[in-house]
Amino acid sequence: MAPEVDALFNFILYTSIVFFVIVVALMTYFVVKYRRREGDGGVTPGLAHNTALEITWTVIPTILVIIVFFWGFRVFLKMHVPPKDAYEIKVTAQRWFWSFAYPNGAMAVNELTVPSGRPVRLLMSSTDVIHSFYVPDFRIKMDVLPNRYTVTWFEAPNPGIHNLLCAEYCGTKHSQMLGTVKVLEQKEFATWLEKGESGGEGMPPEKFGEQLYTSKACNTCHRTDGTAATGPSFKGIFGEQVRLADGQTVTVDENYIRESILTPSVKIVAGYQPVMPTYQGLLTNKQIDAIIAYIKTLK
Ligand code: CUA
Repeated sequence: MAPEVDALFNFILYTSIVFFVIVVALMTYFVVKYRRREGDGGVTPGLAHNTALEITWTVIPTILVIIVFFWGFRVFLKMHVPPKDAYEIKVTAQRWFWSFAYPNGAMAVNELTVPSGRPVRLLMSSTDVIHSFYVPDFRIKMDVLPNRYTVTWFEAPNPGIHNLLCAEYCGTKHSQMLGTVKVLEQKEFATWLEKGESGGEGMPPEKFGEQLYTSKACNTCHRTDGTAATGPSFKGIFGEQVRLADGQTVTVDENYIRESILTPSVKIVAGYQPVMPTYQGLLTNKQIDAIIAYIKTLK
């Protein structure tokens, strides 16, 4: 879509520049030519009506505006009506990350992997507030709303990596609600989809956990330096006793961490808000094990 959006944008830009230059040049010329001189008497002779001039400056802008309207409407329709054979991916926005669900059940967080040369339709919704799905390289931006679906689509012609941003102010971590769109050759994409996205092969679990800490967006709310953020820091929590919002205490062990990842709102640590979304379905058992292994290393 980008070349079509840019062509229209450039048409408007260059038309504006041409008329800006004409108007400013004529203004400057007239200011100099008809400046007040000695002996003018201070009275401007009355200007007569000029039909030819008025028709010209009405007809030319009207034609230009009509061109922009029909051109823009065509591109708008194309941008808003996904082709019937498009590949559909479900997008969920929540404070403050993106998750993607594929037709075969595969899931991903913050990295949208798509095939090249094939239209992709995104069916989007939010679990909390309004977000906006924005990929500048593709010239697409669409609000993502709670309680209803919005749709956008694109077709990436070549493999590559593109930035994904949230373009609607959605809270304190809005500026960190970032992701990528990874475009793969169709064959590579099929392999990626088959394999799913557990990852971490040939890697010690704590290393893999450290990677997931960033790629699964744990880092938006949990720091590892001992200071509190939206959620508690991971540093030194393993094996400790913590007090919960309901007054009970619990030991931070493997089961508590697992429960906090899958059903975060059940046992909230005192002093924090129950804002963490569930990672049910977003992490495999292997990934949860790796995150636990990583937390254990943060002494
Ligand atoms: Cu989500 Cu800003």
